[in-house]
Amino acid sequence: MKPIQVGLLGIGVVGSGTFNVLLRNQEEIKRRAGRGIRISMVADLNVARAQELVGPDVTVVNDARAVIANPDIDIVIELIGGYGVAKTLVLEAIAAGKHVVTANKALLAVHGTEIFAAASAKGVMVAFEAAVAGGIPIIKALREGLTANSIQWIAGIINGTTNFILSEMRDKGLDFAVALKQAQALGYAEADPTFDIEGVDAAHKATIMSAIAFGIPVQFDKAYVEGITKLGAADIKYAEQLGYRIKLLGITKRTPKGIELRVHPCLIPAKRLIANVEGAMNAVVVQGDAVGTTLYYGKGAGSEPTASAVIADLVDITRLHTADAAQRVPHLAFQPNAMSDLPVMPMGEVVTSYYLRLRVADETGVLAKVTGILAGAGISIDAVLQREADEINTEAAPGLPQVPQTDVIILTHDCVEANMNAAISKMQALPTVLEPITRIRKEELA
Ligand code: HSE
Repeated sequence: MKPIQVGLLGIGVVGSGTFNVLLRNQEEIKRRAGRGIRISMVADLNVARAQELVGPDVTVVNDARAVIANPDIDIVIELIGGYGVAKTLVLEAIAAGKHVVTANKALLAVHGTEIFAAASAKGVMVAFEAAVAGGIPIIKALREGLTANSIQWIAGIINGTTNFILSEMRDKGLDFAVALKQAQALGYAEADPTFDIEGVDAAHKATIMSAIAFGIPVQFDKAYVEGITKLGAADIKYAEQLGYRIKLLGITKRTPKGIELRVHPCLIPAKRLIANVEGAMNAVVVQGDAVGTTLYYGKGAGSEPTASAVIADLVDITRLHTADAAQRVPHLAFQPNAMSDLPVMPMGEVVTSYYLRLRVADETGVLAKVTGILAGAGISIDAVLQREADEINTEAAPGLPQVPQTDVIILTHDCVEANMNAAISKMQALPTVLEPITRIRKEELA
């Protein structure tokens, strides 16, 4: 049988990795897929560079629409990224009856409902293993391997850039800005790292996992998103002293009131395996009612790790494209007519525990006032730690009175986020609370 023909839109880091791995492992991939898989056409703005990468046997054009219009192409791989032209091209490829493989998490998290509906109507597949956690086959695990389970929660380190920065901050006692500069110098962070450091990239991925885990539509607009830019070396150190690590987690959880979908820095017990995921690595914990806790670990980005996921999708499509469309694995794991309307909960309704750090005037009665406010809000304290004055920089910020001061760290038991917000406002208003209160959520992941 002649190889299935693939058109590639965008041959950057992941595209060239896909081309190379497909070529290098072509015999084994053919034995698995049942027929060869060949990238026969590439569209890239830099035609000369692309042609050099793929050699003379592959047609290279600068117009993606020429790939989509080619009747010989069975599968289009979209590796352009973003929600602009990529969305138009994906919808055009679907309309032209092509199966689509994409690594574009932003596109699917924001426009997935429209894209999957268009694909279902046309009877084509949209595959996106590479969109979440790069080379880790987490989409396959959630959609197929764990299909017997009622998924209870997922928590993942799903952004390598921020995990690298947090690891450097912990290892070297660096503040965020310094660690970011290092990450950029080493090529771990983009020149514009906003999507990574503000948690947006992780929220795109968490949104996709949430939809597949619970059979709800992708709803990026309902996700709570907080990045790591406000974290200081002091909090990482205090967390360590209390037996915790700070990680940027993407969390989605089923609760009686609805689905939690949130990305924010999190204290997690240092003894958990996921707390020990360092550098740019990714890891996802999935809790299912039947299987219990499962952990998936690996590279979340990079040329060949991401290519590994792209090619797995190519093989899936090659195996399934002649199957009756109704018998294929549904895009979001659940049949389109069996989706749930469980709401994504507002952050104010989320129940979790907290780490608070207050820079306070070291005076009689300060702690009593702070704990009184927490008690008044019905928030129970789990632990309190007060640093010795000589352990911290006691110099007040410019313009503030130079009073003796100290850091008070409080761990709370579970409470509703809205109650915590109200308590933080009251504590912040105390004249003896000298700086903005640091609040980091805490998850035991038990
Ligand atoms: N920028 C992402 C990360 C990789 O740092 O993990 C692509 O999603």
